[in-house]
Amino acid sequence: MSNTPNRYLVTAALPYANGPAHLGHIAGAYLPADIYVRYLRLMGEDVLFVCGSDENGAAITIQAKREGKTPQEIVNKYHAVLKNGFANLGIEFDIYHRTSSALHHQTASDFFKILYEKGVFTEITSEQYYDEQFNQFLADRYIQGTCPKCGSDRAYGDQCENCGSALSPTDLINPISILSKQPPVLKTTKHWYLRMDELQADIKNWLQNTQENEPWKNHVIGQCNAWFNEGLQPRAMTRDLDWGVPVPLPDAQGKVLYVWLDAPIGYISATKQWAIDKGNPELWREYWQNPDTKLIHFIGKDNIVFHCINFPMILKAHGNYVLPTNVPANQFLNLEGQKFSTSRNHAVWVHEYLADFPEHQDALRYVLAANMPENKDSDFSWRDFQARNNNELLAVFGNFVNRVSVLMQKNYAGSVPAVPAHILEATNIEFANVFDTLQAFPYEYDAAIHNFEFRNGLTELMNVARLGNKLISDTEPWKLIKTNPDKTAAILRLCLRITAYLAAYCQPYLPFTAIKLRQFLQLTPADIQNIIKGNYTIETGQHVEPVGLLFQKITEEQINQQLEKLQAAKQQNPDKTPESKPDIVYLPQKETISYDEFAKMDIRVGTILAAEKVQKADKLLKLQIDLGYEQRTVVSGIAEHYQPNEIINQKVLVLANLAPRLLRGIESRGMILMAADPATGKLLFVAPPNDSSNGATVA
Ligand code: MF3
Ligand code: ZN
Repeated sequence: MSNTPNRYLVTAALPYANGPAHLGHIAGAYLPADIYVRYLRLMGEDVLFVCGSDENGAAITIQAKREGKTPQEIVNKYHAVLKNGFANLGIEFDIYHRTSSALHHQTASDFFKILYEKGVFTEITSEQYYDEQFNQFLADRYIQGTCPKCGSDRAYGDQCENCGSALSPTDLINPISILSKQPPVLKTTKHWYLRMDELQADIKNWLQNTQENEPWKNHVIGQCNAWFNEGLQPRAMTRDLDWGVPVPLPDAQGKVLYVWLDAPIGYISATKQWAIDKGNPELWREYWQNPDTKLIHFIGKDNIVFHCINFPMILKAHGNYVLPTNVPANQFLNLEGQKFSTSRNHAVWVHEYLADFPEHQDALRYVLAANMPENKDSDFSWRDFQARNNNELLAVFGNFVNRVSVLMQKNYAGSVPAVPAHILEATNIEFANVFDTLQAFPYEYDAAIHNFEFRNGLTELMNVARLGNKLISDTEPWKLIKTNPDKTAAILRLCLRITAYLAAYCQPYLPFTAIKLRQFLQLTPADIQNIIKGNYTIETGQHVEPVGLLFQKITEEQINQQLEKLQAAKQQNPDKTPESKPDIVYLPQKETISYDEFAKMDIRVGTILAAEKVQKADKLLKLQIDLGYEQRTVVSGIAEHYQPNEIINQKVLVLANLAPRLLRGIESRGMILMAADPATGKLLFVAPPNDSSNGATVA
């Protein structure tokens, strides 16, 4: 709440234009970004909010093959669907651009050339998979095979979606080209690799310095450190593909920029387009090149490395660009306890939600903000959606505003009643807590949003509505008016004051409701500014309009329909089961023990805070575990199953009173409990629920 505006450039991850957005995307990046931006605007900051469709890369060409269309047709189709979905949900970008545009191609191409001239690439010729029937090299995503880590037979050349391991195409067992369905052959090809190994030290320093001024989320730093500890390797910045930004070098026919190189540059080209549309083409530089700019990237956790390491690295190598101030990545939202899955259609699509629940944008925004996966994965369930809508949004917020509106119309014909000064004063003293709360609230709210704690911000806002609701329930103005009309009038003025705060401050979370509240109180932009400055007064004779119902009850039937829809999608897209199931060998049960023997074990809930590989030990990870009452080091034999960066924040059960053991020179204090899958041998975390407290005992 400063006087001179700060300049912010806020970005939300460019979604791939190969499908519509679902609620997981919204809760992960777009809603938190929108709340943040709306709040900054409310506070009078200078903020630019850019996004657009990520239209390059194999994700697009594969979808085109699937739908029998050209890549351009695919991106045109989904760009429109994505753009409308965001707009209809009130996600208000200053520009929603696209990376198939000529401006983006030019920007990305120029960027690559400068990097090339700065000498940050190295040319490497290597053997890569090639489809002989289709006469083309196969991008990582075009190769499927068996995962060497978990045995899933549907792993891709870049990642196994079953166990989450990062893979290279040559890691796959029995690779198959998804084009010809034939095994690919190895053929040599040349690519340009970014010397991430050489640039590591510099970027690590920058990251450390940045965090001294501005705290970043633990799980974001944890992932970055895991990458650094492992040591960055040169990474190819070009691909053999016929769709994307051509590599601007003479000997690079048939090659395009790696999509993860060009996509973040899309933030820059979007800003350029915005400046052109504004009639001031050079204005983009203020946001990207003026060192006062605070650049904030909103993304999901699968994008962390690209935004915290790769993109800053190339911005730095290029020179003359600001680097991110913060990257408040979210974790994942699940749906009814399971991962969102596009291929199995286990998803709630934004455009379908909006069709099934018209005029319910704020209900969704509310529920997604309340469950936002800020620091750990969280869950969206239709029952929770119903309960939060009906019992919180409607019963607290809506009910309060509605009662105020009805009382104002019924008793005062919508005109703020006069109250004798001494009664007004006495009432204000009696309900001093209302003033106290309204005075403290903006600071709490401001801190929550600036710290990217959007759940807390929402709680603060709802507490204001609760305050109002309680004031009405406690004083029962509809009865009081018969015995003490002056005091009743004073209480209603107090209620209007509370409503004014809600009208001003609910806008980041509930923009559609904010419009209705502002109409209700006839608030001008100047009034909103006065509310924020604490200068707003309710005047006698001031007119208020009747407010319609702000929220609607969600019925049992509506919820059942949604649950049936999910179920039906699942039956149409059952998980393909592997052709031949591996033989399962169960281990024989161990000998019987007494209860007393069991009771000697002290098993506790913990959270993995940090993980790193143990030098020269393929199987071992060194873990730092928070047990609530203390932190400890545990060495665990899970390195062949998990990458250090994917288990940060994982809840675990720890055998806490196991005698310490020395493993590779490291004292290991305790043991993590893992389930060994009898079919695949994969070690799985025996994970207590995410909301269980560290240090909790298990018996
Ligand atoms: N399209 C990517 C995804 O959906 C995100 C790209 S973010 C950007 O995971 F910065 F690269 F654009
Ligand atoms: Zn796997």
